[in-house]
Amino acid sequence: PEDMVFSYRGILYPLTISSPETLEALQSFEARSDDVVLVGYPKSGTNWLEHMVKELADAKYTEEEMKERINAEKKLETFQRLEFGDPGIYEILVLVQNPKDTAVSYYHFYNNLPLLPSFASWDEYFADFMNGKLAWGSYFDHLLEWNKYIDNERIMAISYEELKEDPILGMKKIASFFGFSLCEEDFSRIAKKTSFKAMKEKSNETHGKFGDVLFRKGVVGNWRDVFSNAQNEEMYRKFQDSLGGTKMAAKIKY
Ligand code: PPS
Repeated sequence: PEDMVFSYRGILYPLTISSPETLEALQSFEARSDDVVLVGYPKSGTNWLEHMVKELADAKYTEEEMKERINAEKKLETFQRLEFGDPGIYEILVLVQNPKDTAVSYYHFYNNLPLLPSFASWDEYFADFMNGKLAWGSYFDHLLEWNKYIDNERIMAISYEELKEDPILGMKKIASFFGFSLCEEDFSRIAKKTSFKAMKEKSNETHGKFGDVLFRKGVVGNWRDVFSNAQNEEMYRKFQDSLGGTKMAAKIKY
């Protein structure tokens, strides 16, 4: 199993997805002014957020296009040039989630996809989650690092829990962060299109049996089925010790 992952700058990555060379190449990555960067620890709901942002961008351009009566054939071209922000600056959306649900989702991902080595038990996995010995590093270190930039006006943190509670409100916050708004019909249409059910159905067509792992439950509070009382306490202590009192922690519904 060890040969399924490699270490780069102290963090583990699965070989099936990247290599030291591709990560090295990222060091010189240059963002364009119309790039939007989505940041998320594995299993915090990044695919969902990505779909929402794509749909929002698509709807924004469609509304503008209708206003300007642009020819429909130019659709793709316009979409690719869609500019969200001021030239030379891009926005970063940081998706956060309660570590307990993230940990459970990641456990199923580890154990049900051929990408990463399986764990013999939940307890064994839990110890590695707490020590940050998993692929893509430690949940806690990741959020502590992003907490350094949280006051930057080009960065916004949004939680999985708030998106679940009120997806339309969440999307309104995202659109407003990008500097635009849409009509109510667009927001409700996108909420339906990006619902767990809709995305799961679509994924099952393309991912087959792995669709059930990628779109497993899609709920808040799933950790209750798995965590022991002692693990619950240990997680709370670790969360407080590493992130307690930070603005990032305040964004996370614990
Ligand atoms: S990955 O593999 O790291 O990119 O996973 P990621 O997309 O970040 O997170 C996967 C979890 O997000 C849930 N999910 C959703 N929840 C609500 N609504 C929608 N539309 C949605 N799409 C994906 C997915 O089910 C994973 O959580 P769990 O708890 O495992 O179900």
